[in-house]
Amino acid sequence: MINEKIEKALNAQINKEFFSSYLYLSMSSYFESKNLTGMAAWMKIQADEEHLHAMKFYAYVIQKGGRAILASIEPPKSDWKSVLDVFEDTYTHEQFITASIDELVNLSLELKDHATNNFLQWFVTEQVEEEANVTKIIDDLKMIGDNSYGIFMLDRELGTRQPAPPAPAAA
Ligand SMILES: [Fe+2]
Ligand SMILES: [Fe+2]
Repeated sequence: MINEKIEKALNAQINKEFFSSYLYLSMSSYFESKNLTGMAAWMKIQADEEHLHAMKFYAYVIQKGGRAILASIEPPKSDWKSVLDVFEDTYTHEQFITASIDELVNLSLELKDHATNNFLQWFVTEQVEEEANVTKIIDDLKMIGDNSYGIFMLDRELGTRQPAPPAPAAA
């Protein structure tokens, strides 16, 4: 069985991961409208990965005998000032998700819920990677500035991103 408090918090996380997916799909659509197809593809993969994260939480809640409750998803932003603005928003959002995962870990420790704590460790590691990836892109964008050739090259590079192989627990 699952503790009611943790079940509620995990359900809230399902919604946050779906929102992340929605936000990144919206960013992908923004890049498409700017003809930045590489960045659009990168964000689409990001959106797909967030969907998988939501499904990992969903499957875990059910596996633990809880009930996965789907709530409405807040509409994401649809416009940004620049490419840098999009990635800065991505970084801010990932920091928010990291804080949320950390809160879940704290709760699992408080409740001595070792199974959930163990389940969450994959996300702790994932968040380190997520923040590092976006930081690298922001650093590149700051170096590029207004140089359109630089944006063109970065668009090409980001377009080579491959989807990550599914994590074992996500299957
Ligand atoms: Fe996520
Ligand atoms: Fe993420």
